[in-house]
Amino acid sequence: MERTLVLVKPDGVQRALVGEVIARLERRGLRLVAAKFMQVGKELAETHYAVHKGKPFYDGLISYIISAPVMAMVWEGPNAVAAVRQTMGSTKPTEAAPGTLRHDFALEVGRNLTHASDSPENGENEIRLWFKKEELVEWKREVDKWVFEK
Ligand code: RTP
Ligand code: MG
Repeated sequence: MERTLVLVKPDGVQRALVGEVIARLERRGLRLVAAKFMQVGKELAETHYAVHKGKPFYDGLISYIISAPVMAMVWEGPNAVAAVRQTMGSTKPTEAAPGTLRHDFALEVGRNLTHASDSPENGENEIRLWFKKEELVEWKREVDKWVFEK
């Protein structure tokens, strides 16, 4: 089953939108695998965003992500990466489709509420970075057969 890392970033936590994010992913049919409320350290932030090092928004991005606690989660389901990114909406909230989280709750790219892995491979790498193996819960739901075709 495909898995993806989801972060409710500091703005989402401060604005009491953790429940909203979880509710939307649950309602979509995705299955929660792990969740951890945590203060992110500089080292983790820099590793997570290494691909953006050198870009003009990098310093602001690092200070944003370590500025207050985040809710880190792993979600799974068929096409979980694409499904979650669709639910989040485009990176720039003013380009996000109506009905997406970023459209409905955000205005600025530097305060865009959530992170979601951008490919299954990056998802697995990010999950390994943020979670220990024993923090990932393998489980089944009665409803799985009504949400997952196989
Ligand atoms: P994310 O990684 O957070 O799920 O978002 P994403 O894939 O849609 O966007 P990405 O290109 O990976 O950028 C990571 C985060 O950096 C901030 N950003 N700011 N000022 C800017 O032009 C700019 N571009 C990106 C955003 O917080 C974005 O989510
Ligand atoms: Mg990204």
